[in-house]
Amino acid sequence: MSSHDDTAGFPTGFVWGTATASYQIEGAVTAGGRRPSIWDTFSHKPGTIHNGDTGDVADDHYHRYREDVGLLADLGVTHYRFSLAWPRLQPDGKGAINADGLDFYTRLVDELLAHDIQPWVTLYHWDLPQALEDAGGWPERDTAERFADYAALTHDKLHDRIQHWTTLNEPWCSAFLGYAAGAHAPGRTEPAAALAAAHHLLLGHGLAVEVMREQDRDSRLGITVNLSPVDPATEDPADVDAARRVDAVSNRVFLDPLLRGRYPDDLRADVAAISDLGFVQPGDEAVIAAPLDFLGVNYYFRAVVRANPGEPVPDPHARAWVGSADVEPVRTGLPTTAMGWEIDPSGLHDVLTRVHRDYGPVPIYVTENGAAFDDEVADDGRIHDEDRISFLDSHFRATLRAIDDGADVRGFFVWSLLDNFEWAYGYDKRFGLVHVDYATQTRTPKDSARWFAAVTRRNGLAAEVAVLD
Ligand code: FCB
Repeated sequence: MSSHDDTAGFPTGFVWGTATASYQIEGAVTAGGRRPSIWDTFSHKPGTIHNGDTGDVADDHYHRYREDVGLLADLGVTHYRFSLAWPRLQPDGKGAINADGLDFYTRLVDELLAHDIQPWVTLYHWDLPQALEDAGGWPERDTAERFADYAALTHDKLHDRIQHWTTLNEPWCSAFLGYAAGAHAPGRTEPAAALAAAHHLLLGHGLAVEVMREQDRDSRLGITVNLSPVDPATEDPADVDAARRVDAVSNRVFLDPLLRGRYPDDLRADVAAISDLGFVQPGDEAVIAAPLDFLGVNYYFRAVVRANPGEPVPDPHARAWVGSADVEPVRTGLPTTAMGWEIDPSGLHDVLTRVHRDYGPVPIYVTENGAAFDDEVADDGRIHDEDRISFLDSHFRATLRAIDDGADVRGFFVWSLLDNFEWAYGYDKRFGLVHVDYATQTRTPKDSARWFAAVTRRNGLAAEVAVLD
């Protein structure tokens, strides 16, 4: 498979990790002075989340973090990617740091370091303090300033023990699922506001990088974007143009300002009827393009689209493609995960090599990839999730192919360590390497956890896919 050694070995020093996010696992939403985030508000609104689920308890990780770090140690990972809850650290989104919140993350980080696991933090994985949404949220420029203040306060306290800092996770979801499709918090359906939100998220990122860089030149700073290749369903020019537009408003809307210092011209033209992007002030694009130490890439599926001159389809992704109401996603017939997402590892290869090809050399980490399946606890008490093992195996191999093709991929974080609160899907979708029984909070490593531990120990894949023990 790969030139790195006889089986399918990853480069020496390759980073192996798992990823989680605060609202999805922590619970304890009123502990230690934490105040509501937009996800607390949104999940408590009837009809927003499958089964009426909320993150009130989640995996109770806030109280069980020691056990969870033990699970990570068993996986043999070198790194753990998790997010800091802004409403724990700055409950109202401004002012002094909340000592209890800081204490929780300090204890978590110390526990990780005691197990030789490097923390890799995300400052914002979607839990905006509700007070800031009440003041207008991400469509307001002030939210970018608030974010940079929060980053500075937090980095100042924790940079001595955390080297890798990610500003934002998947700003596409925050901006377009949150403010255009209304499928995520805060549940607004205002396309122009979604474009402003995207810009202020990026501006907040750039301002945060600037101030953290000043505080410590040794910190490694980056951002995580979710990327999908966007293919036209046919060669028909209308479909080809549909794919171009979706690519602009999903991928290039972030990659271009971050890595080239300007928004794409075609995107500006595509959304002109909705917004003139008047919120982009002189100098903003330069701030956003502050040099990065790494780019995080999350990959779950490939998008295939076609032009649809008829009624817009009721699909949250389609609603999020601002300026492209006449485009619809197309199924190709590949097998799907429990999310209904088609399994296409070649899409991961394609996004990794695309970043390398179109945006020049930048160290890349796959900061999320994984799959939900309808796991069942077998009579022997175990979870035989061969489907997840083969999903991960194929995506690891796609990553190796991308490395062979020149992409500078330095690590891979599996989503997720634990089954958790899967946003609008609640607890129905299980992405964990470790099963969680929500009634008892019992953690049970799935077969995929044991398989993954073998991969991290070997820093590579065996010829056989499902090698266990
Ligand atoms: C990503 C999110 C992550 C998780 C996975 C399945 O979009 O970043 O929190 O929900 O999807």
